Amino acid sequence: MRGEIRVPGDKSISHRALLFGALAEGETVITGFLDSEDTHATAGCLRAMGVTIDDGDPVRVHGVGLHGLRAPTDTLWTGNSGTTTRLLMGILAGQPFTATLAGDASLGRRPMDRVAVPLRQMGAEVTGQGPRCTPPVTVHGGALHGIAYASPVASAQVKSAVLLAGLYAEGTTSVTEPQKSRDHTERMLRGFGIDVAEDGLTVRVQGGGTLRGGAVAVPGDISAAAFFLVAAAIVPGAEVTVRGVGVNPTRAGILDVLRAMGADLTLSNAREQTGEPVADLTVRHGALHGTEIGGGLIPRLIDELPVLAVAAACAQGTTVIRDARELRVKESDRIATVSRFLRDMGAEVEEHEDGMTIHGGHPLHGAVVESDGDHRIAMSAAVAALVAGATEIRGADAIATSFPTFTALLRGLGARVEG
Ligand code: S3P
Repeated sequence: MRGEIRVPGDKSISHRALLFGALAEGETVITGFLDSEDTHATAGCLRAMGVTIDDGDPVRVHGVGLHGLRAPTDTLWTGNSGTTTRLLMGILAGQPFTATLAGDASLGRRPMDRVAVPLRQMGAEVTGQGPRCTPPVTVHGGALHGIAYASPVASAQVKSAVLLAGLYAEGTTSVTEPQKSRDHTERMLRGFGIDVAEDGLTVRVQGGGTLRGGAVAVPGDISAAAFFLVAAAIVPGAEVTVRGVGVNPTRAGILDVLRAMGADLTLSNAREQTGEPVADLTVRHGALHGTEIGGGLIPRLIDELPVLAVAAACAQGTTVIRDARELRVKESDRIATVSRFLRDMGAEVEEHEDGMTIHGGHPLHGAVVESDGDHRIAMSAAVAALVAGATEIRGADAIATSFPTFTALLRGLGARVEG
């Protein structure tokens, strides 16, 4: 495992560039856009509401303005993408029409009440399935009024949905989180000319502004880089540099944890790209030791916990992950899926309601792993396989959700990947 790579564009930022570009006046030109099933779902929904998006590099979005979306004639298909569904719910709340969002089986299990509750308080009518308002969800948009919402979860999807609805609402809309979640929405809205005020854990927008399209250069996705950073840390003799990775502090918790585990990690060429910090990251193999991951660190690395659990299984000593109940409502129940595949590979893992304890240092061996349709489980298992030996990953096609070039990059660094 030696070499230099670039990973695809950040998924969160790519979704937002499409959505905000669509709501803007003028054209938005996106370079480094993530070409994947999730981001295609967002593009497809926007096209179904009359937005013209030219594929390619760059991607061009022809903005229709805040009030230019048209009623879709069909159900909007959001595939596996929670970000598409929740951010669109916020936008749909402010539209003078009704639309229904639906996706795959995994999406059909994900709670949308966390977004429906504040949107209803703002004046929208939102209906879903069962007590947790799972998809399909129907949003009857209407005249909204601003609210001061204290979110019970640290979730950028909730925060973004409420702020987007706030652009359509009368007066001020604010969201206060229990902990800081990723702030890409705040940064990009500012880039599009919206005044976003921040005061500690509270973010505020005023209704009635105008978004202005422009150039968005999407940084490499740290959540994609994570697989290679951990791979380099655990494979003997490895050294991998990932260039141009977004290192926004609200996303870069994995770097803190790898350092705390004793990884040989260097950050170089730090710079800024369309309001987001970017750097090159190099990891060399070295001994890792266990650590504790919890509290305000969790939202800063929530998507990286599956692959960090792999690092923990390869470390000496115990790693405890706490306060990560959110993992249970991701693309799969990631506490269950990670614990299961690591145990199947020979690791010693205790499952908790809000996390897991991993007793590292037991040698891993190859196994048959079920991804449960979860892209990050499939990729985390592939990283574990680099030290465990031949592993069959079932449902690996889910990788295309966020990272269609993953196996090609892995092969390029010397791994043998079949299928
Ligand atoms: C995302 C926010 C996070 C993250 C997801 C992408 C976003 O979800 O897990 O992959 O783009 O806003 P939550 O908002 O549910 O924490």
